[in-house]
Amino acid sequence: MRRGMQRALEEIFTPARVRTAPEDLATWGGDWTRAFKVAPGAIVFPRSIDEVVEVTRLANTRGLHLVPSGGRTGLSGGAVASNGEIVVSFDRMNRMLDFNAADRVVRCEAGVVTQALQEYAAARNLFYPVDFASSGSSQIGGNISTNAGGIKVIRYGLTRDWVAGLTVVTGAGDVLECNNALVKNATGYDLRHLFIGAEGTLGFVVQADIRLLTAPAPARVMVLAIDRFADILDVLQCFRDALTLSAFEFFSELALTKVLSHREVSRPFARAANFYALIEFDADDEEAALGAFERAVERGWVGDGVISRSDAQARALWTLRDGITESIAPYTPYKNDIAVRVSDVPAFLEDIDRLVSAHYPDFEVCWFGHIGDGNLHLNILKPENLASDAFYERCHRISPALFEAIGNRGGSISAEHGVGLLKRDFLHYSRSPQEIALMRQLKAVFDPNGVINPGKLLVH
Ligand code: MLT
Ligand code: ZN
Repeated sequence: MRRGMQRALEEIFTPARVRTAPEDLATWGGDWTRAFKVAPGAIVFPRSIDEVVEVTRLANTRGLHLVPSGGRTGLSGGAVASNGEIVVSFDRMNRMLDFNAADRVVRCEAGVVTQALQEYAAARNLFYPVDFASSGSSQIGGNISTNAGGIKVIRYGLTRDWVAGLTVVTGAGDVLECNNALVKNATGYDLRHLFIGAEGTLGFVVQADIRLLTAPAPARVMVLAIDRFADILDVLQCFRDALTLSAFEFFSELALTKVLSHREVSRPFARAANFYALIEFDADDEEAALGAFERAVERGWVGDGVISRSDAQARALWTLRDGITESIAPYTPYKNDIAVRVSDVPAFLEDIDRLVSAHYPDFEVCWFGHIGDGNLHLNILKPENLASDAFYERCHRISPALFEAIGNRGGSISAEHGVGLLKRDFLHYSRSPQEIALMRQLKAVFDPNGVINPGKLLVH
């Protein structure tokens, strides 16, 4: 980076909060994806909204590009800086600012880690329900920017549903206070929702008002063996008719074997099945769940099952599902994060499985995901002896056919990880030309000089 530019950044942030050492650039310039070049110009660590405004104004006057960065757990390259951009890390903006018990709303800075928010709520006998495997590192600003979903969407919805208010710094450097945590506000366009899921392309999320709710009863977890994927919706229906579920997740036998060899957990039951469903519900509903289990066994949909008897057992069963991502990470998986309507899931999975197996008989294909909300994770694992580039190139070749099948069912090419760099060239499979044209116009309104997260979500 040029000396003059470094000095200008140091004036805003002090030299201590401007980093350019190669190891810092490598750490803060990337995310959990491994497919993209990581080459930022510098990393800056704002401590206040004013500093975010200043760096955004500097970017506008000097033609700099800025990349917002949270916990760097993204899986689509949305926070990757490949072209000398300035990474704006929210690691130092991680304070809880205010809690109002009557409103049940906490105001926090964008860099608050998801788990810290969950613990903050629990300490007040309240509950923040959005949860996923990366909760220990992901930050609330990143969650908002991807409208993160996770494992409890079936009952509690997405991040969007818990954002009562939002403070953003637009790409032009303006501060917008959106909605002030009001429950009702019928005064025209709700700009808050434009920034949720915008992947940091319209501006920086700097603070959020997050709604909390009454803590639910202790949870029970059940894992079920299901041999025919076609039966899985019947199982979902059978349980849903009897009780309220807070999760209905699934994973394949291959996914389970990867977790078993990576983590210290044991097989849920002796016999292996083709698929497993993990169900979570309130302990008060245990009797209803056992009744549903018996009916599912009688009908031949479920071959075996296990239920947690303690919190430790519940956590161990959850590890079988939320340990998958890290267990398959050494295979540099080619990730697909797709969604169709829940009713379409079984037929869709069979179509896609046929397509992938026909093209890649030599690749391991690992299925898991959130059946309860129609979101499937299809991960193609790299064989050890194949170079990464060749592997990615081969996987990329099948993407158009895969995305066409999704488009034909009105599905989404990215259900929860975001488009970022990874899915950018395929956006048109899920969004119409009119929608993409309007998205471009919105980008130009909020970020007229294209300084924030250029090249993400929309082709430049
Ligand atoms: C999950 O459901 O575990 C996450 O979306 C992460 C992943 O897909 O690897
Ligand atoms: Zn997921």
